[in-house]
Amino acid sequence: MRLSLRRGVKFLLGVSCVCMAAWALYYVLKCHGWHTPALRVSIVVKGSNQTWYRYSQDSPVVFVGGVPRSGTTLMRAMLDAHPGIRCGEETRVIPRLLALRHGWKKQGQERSELEEEGVTQEMLDSATLAFLLEVIVRHGDPAPLLCNKDPFTLKSSLYLSNIFPKSKFILMVRDGRASVHSMISRRVTIAGFNLSSYRDCLTKWNNAIEVMLFQCTLVRAKRCLAVHYENLVLQPRTTMEKVLQFLEVPWHEGVLHHEEAIGQPGGVSLSRIERSTDQVIKPVNLEALTRWVGHIPGDLLGDMQNIAPMLSRLGYDPTANPPDYGQPDPEVIHNTERVLKGDFKPPASLKRQESVV
Ligand SMILES: *[C@@H]1O[C@H](CO)[C@@H](O)[C@H](O)[C@H]1NC(C)=O
Ligand SMILES: *[C@@H]1O[C@H](CO)[C@@H](O)[C@H](O)[C@H]1NC(C)=O
Repeated sequence: MRLSLRRGVKFLLGVSCVCMAAWALYYVLKCHGWHTPALRVSIVVKGSNQTWYRYSQDSPVVFVGGVPRSGTTLMRAMLDAHPGIRCGEETRVIPRLLALRHGWKKQGQERSELEEEGVTQEMLDSATLAFLLEVIVRHGDPAPLLCNKDPFTLKSSLYLSNIFPKSKFILMVRDGRASVHSMISRRVTIAGFNLSSYRDCLTKWNNAIEVMLFQCTLVRAKRCLAVHYENLVLQPRTTMEKVLQFLEVPWHEGVLHHEEAIGQPGGVSLSRIERSTDQVIKPVNLEALTRWVGHIPGDLLGDMQNIAPMLSRLGYDPTANPPDYGQPDPEVIHNTERVLKGDFKPPASLKRQESVV
């Protein structure tokens, strides 16, 4: 009896030694970055209700993007109206940094000189991650789920999905003829787009959405959702139900009334200089759906399939002006009537300042 007790104690001691050794080894490996990226970035911020939030590259982040003038601002405003989500204004520096990093990574002179000088790709990726996280976290109030909207970031979805393993992507897709008419008629400057030429803008739209859609398929459907702007404005409820399900966020009725959350604490913060501000102060409505019809130069109409083959790939009939986008929900018709009556004017605090030369 006494013998077996002693044996039992020895056995237990042995087992616990093995466990502790394994545990120590695991931590040593972890600290040396064998299991995780070399750099651990973590940011702690205090919310307006005195709650502390901690963010790292393992936090869930939503990236909203698409070709400019495709409803990216509407989508982010609707998400911002959810109490558990914060998107905020465009940061503008995030797509620029992603473009810079892309340049550093290209094989050739630049890459080999950087390696020569001890600037490794791994180091640049860690630094990029730290920069992105700082900007996304600090440019607005904290929330359980952070979101970033800079249209062109969706050209880098695959890279972002790697450095933020729990990130998700919402790609806004819109009839390119409508996006192009909007950028041209509202004079929205976009690098590389010649606003004097419908043909050039349609071609550039086609190239950009092709890249973004390809990136979206690389990230896969579980993490990238393409949302048609037309569905968002015609059937906002079913569309937003799908979006929130995709984000694994509980339904909140507020997302259908983003205009009521503008300027509210935890609601929708708008910028005076963003070109969509005068539109998203209004409830979801049909004003902008077919405004492009009749404005595309006649010589392009017959050639639309060749100029912008992505139209038909995305389900937009290139020969129909306009195509049948679907039936609106009754609440959207009601909103549109109110908008046409002029019920929604930008508050003075959000009026665009005329630039002083
Ligand atoms: C603060 O807000 C967060 C998210 O909105 C919520 O989960 C938390 O319960 C709030 N804390 C307090 C003290 O109200
Ligand atoms: C933009 O397009 C217009 C009309 O086709 C053309 O005259 C002009 O040269 C183009 N500008 C640039 C910078 O390519």
